[in-house]
Amino acid sequence: MGSRMIGLGMYAPPKTLTNDELEKMVDTSDSWIMERTGIKLRRIAEPRTACSDLCLEASKRALADAGISPSEIDIIVVGTCTPDMPLPSTACFLQMKLGAGRAYALDLNAACSGFLYSLSAADAMIRAGRGKKALVVGGEILSTVTDYTDRNTCILFGDGAGAVVLSECPDGEGVLSCHLHSDGNLWELIYAPGGGTVHPYGPEVAENRMHAIRMAGNETFKQAVTRMVEVSLEALQHNRVDISDVALFLPHQANMRIINAVGKRLGISEGRVFVNLERYGNTSAASVPIALAEAREQGRFAKGDLLLLASFGAGLTWGSALVRM
Ligand code: ACO
Repeated sequence: MGSRMIGLGMYAPPKTLTNDELEKMVDTSDSWIMERTGIKLRRIAEPRTACSDLCLEASKRALADAGISPSEIDIIVVGTCTPDMPLPSTACFLQMKLGAGRAYALDLNAACSGFLYSLSAADAMIRAGRGKKALVVGGEILSTVTDYTDRNTCILFGDGAGAVVLSECPDGEGVLSCHLHSDGNLWELIYAPGGGTVHPYGPEVAENRMHAIRMAGNETFKQAVTRMVEVSLEALQHNRVDISDVALFLPHQANMRIINAVGKRLGISEGRVFVNLERYGNTSAASVPIALAEAREQGRFAKGDLLLLASFGAGLTWGSALVRM
């Protein structure tokens, strides 16, 4: 047995943060941000919004798209690095809000690779007979862990959620492969030190903005390009398919220059690379499932098409999936 995607959905909060607004907050400019990142807008959740609220909206849309009710879901996996609370899991809040009483629910933190890690986990659970239908969600409120006085990072991040309903299917259809990798040695390239066991919440964390993401942008950039190319080629080689067989490549939406460099190295034409980061910025675990839902809405792929998904994030973590829709 395997699993296939039978429903897609996304949600982003309506409030926007533009480059012009950022110009008033830090020493930056619309032209610098556009040239270096390709980002024009980010969506920002209202204060005190729960990550599970964004996940709920995306999940409702994915379930409606699949034509199934929450009570039919066996497994809920939420990829997030900005959970509602340290405990319980955001997935349990989502289960409660959806009324998906039969499902078991868990979170998975692989930062920007959170959705691909969650997809891989849910696909493996279905293959292992631990359920027939899974709701796989990537949701983030990165604005809560962004330092809006740090121009190196505050221009990048946005909020949103994307969801996919997976259903059991014959082997060799649907999710054809998932490849995941991590390198904890490079954790210092992207991290948010405060609020865990090493630096529990307290005056030190508040004074030094230790709750917020810190990033060595340049080195992260190089790693992102190299790793996303490697893991995409791994997917193609494993399945014995050529890049020309891929109808659409949906990479993690971190930076236009990263996406262009990866696309070029893979030898895929620009028209077959999905990009929406100009309107959302980097939404971490939400970026790939938001891209999936938007690409389908825009008619960028059809039933039976082959999609290549790839991501890269803090950890470091990276991964790919080859999916027959
Ligand atoms: N506005 C104007 N100037 C800026 C800004 C800004 N917002 N930010 C940095 N600069 C300056 C720097 O201070 C530096 O100035 P200096 O030369 O005087 O020191 C100069 O611009 C160049 O800085 P770099 O960091 O070298 O710029 P770079 O071209 O690398 O772009 C960026 C920075 C956009 C962050 C890029 O490195 C990037 O996108 N990195 C990858 C991010 C990523 O992929 N993250 C994914 C994971 S995130 C997660 O897991 C949650």
